[in-house]
Amino acid sequence: MKILAVSDVEDKLLEKIIEKTPEKVKSVDCIFSCGDLQGDYIEYITDALSKSLYYVVGNHYALQFYGKELKKRHLLKKLYFGKGMRLHFGGIDMHGRIEIVGDYIVAGFGGAMRYNPGFFQFEEIEMEKLVKKVRADILRQRIIDFLLFRKRKKLIAMSHAPIAGVHDKSDKCHKGFKCFRDFLFKEKPILWLHGHIHFEGQSRRQETMLDETLITNVYSSKIIEIKKSEIKTLNVNEL
Ligand SMILES: [Fe+2]
Repeated sequence: MKILAVSDVEDKLLEKIIEKTPEKVKSVDCIFSCGDLQGDYIEYITDALSKSLYYVVGNHYALQFYGKELKKRHLLKKLYFGKGMRLHFGGIDMHGRIEIVGDYIVAGFGGAMRYNPGFFQFEEIEMEKLVKKVRADILRQRIIDFLLFRKRKKLIAMSHAPIAGVHDKSDKCHKGFKCFRDFLFKEKPILWLHGHIHFEGQSRRQETMLDETLITNVYSSKIIEIKKSEIKTLNVNEL
């Protein structure tokens, strides 16, 4: 499976490739957005490539699109959680849920560590509950697959925030979630895509292998190719 992953900042080079030599990126199977991107940018990429979009939203979403008024944010929160409301048209919101994509189970977690009264922010304990719920969803899917004699699916995780101790920073906003670490060691995803951390050396890759998981900071864009147990990541300038 080949994934085009985007996050945090618009990639002008990716836009140029889509306009001038789209065949270079048309071979991707799907698009994963790890948050903090404008809706029109993501929708443009999705439309241009005609691929399925799976996304989590970042901590800046509500401020960018709905103004700073607290009342509006609270109303949006009420409308959003548990109602299956889609914040990017044509895409699947992966926050706190799983989806089958090709031969894989994909699990998603939006938002970041709480640092002010903003919308897509969570205390560690709130994210812990979500992780628990997603683990139960994975278990249910594995039981169904077992009963239907299906092959066991490998797991891919996507989040906006990082995992505690991997690519994260010491300030509250950019701290990673400890419960993500727990999820990683127990569920053993083969790949974890995250955003939120602005990595200045984006011409290089910020990647870490932890246990059996390749953790990639998507910042801007990445092409990820998974072939059996081998995972290859590319920046778009290497296409
Ligand atoms: Fe962010």
